[in-house]
Amino acid sequence: MNLLVIGANGLLGSNVVRAGQRRDWDVCGTYHSTPPDFEIPFIQFDLRAYDGFDTILEEFEPDVVVNCAAMTDVDGCEADLETARVLNGDAPGVLAAQCALHEVRFVHVSTDYVFDGTGRDPYSEAADPHPIQAYGESKLAGEQAVRDEDTAALVARLSFVWGLHRGRNELTGFPAWVRGQLQTGEDVPLFTDQWLTPTRAGQAADVLLDLVDREVTGLVHVACTSCVTPYKFGEILAEAGGYDGDLLVAGSMDDIDRDAARPAYSCLDVSHVESVLDRSQPTLRDDVDAVRDIFGST
Ligand SMILES: NC(=O)c1ccc[n+]([C@@H]2O[C@H](COP(=O)([O-])OP(=O)(O)OC[C@H]3O[C@@H](n4cnc5c(N)ncnc54)[C@H](OP(=O)(O)O)[C@@H]3O)[C@@H](O)[C@H]2O)c1
Repeated sequence: MNLLVIGANGLLGSNVVRAGQRRDWDVCGTYHSTPPDFEIPFIQFDLRAYDGFDTILEEFEPDVVVNCAAMTDVDGCEADLETARVLNGDAPGVLAAQCALHEVRFVHVSTDYVFDGTGRDPYSEAADPHPIQAYGESKLAGEQAVRDEDTAALVARLSFVWGLHRGRNELTGFPAWVRGQLQTGEDVPLFTDQWLTPTRAGQAADVLLDLVDREVTGLVHVACTSCVTPYKFGEILAEAGGYDGDLLVAGSMDDIDRDAARPAYSCLDVSHVESVLDRSQPTLRDDVDAVRDIFGST
């Protein structure tokens, strides 16, 4: 299998590259600002130049394209609606159309932020999306454009992506910040009024490639099975790393002034992917255990 990863130097992208390499697939990629540390063929590609994507397809001749590139700065999208629309809304549709034209399978990555958070049961693929901020609106537009252009595309929604960046082999994002605070003995203020199903990037990458293997199309939710608050996530991390949990401080989303609204509840129902792959998805503890060596204090 010849796999082309768009956004190969992002958190998820680096894990998709690694997952493809572990399967002995031929892997190539694109990057935006910084070339990845992988020994793979790659090329610079700005999603804004989406009209030139066909030349990349002609150069690499992939069997499958996984689009991990996006404008992921949720508050930044609120401040720059036009860039959010182009990167998250328009570009995915053009990439999907080009893939359909070249008979290349297309996998697109979306988000739990397409939901408004008023639900109290995990959102299934059948739930009506209703984003409450520009990021979610632009990602929903991207989903729809992809599905309009390529009915055989796979669109995977993820939630609160975290894990090891596989190019740099380092922990990034939320757990890295929690660990930093715990290691320096500082308080860790964490929300107790937001609920999500954290998605470990390495786990999601494997699931995406398993879905490609099984030629699954359409909309699929990919996340862990634990619907937790960031505070609970912090407790699990502190316990796994042997850190002092007393440093965790209960906080509220209202404590922070941010440009974009966040859904208070965006847990994803993963029963569809479990049924398609015929296996359970991990709990959050399973996922944290998978990176315990890197997260631990010793
Ligand atoms: N992070 C989350 O919590 C989360 C939750 C749900 C869904 N998702 C979705 O998961 C996917 C992967 O996100 P991630 O967590 O891996 O985020 P990430 O680490 O921020 O990766 C995003 C990638 O997009 C690239 N990019 C940004 N602007 C670009 C442009 N103009 N042209 C080409 N590439 C550009 C970035 O490259 P540079 O850094 O070089 O600009 C980066 O490699 C995205 O579709 C995101 O919407 C993320």
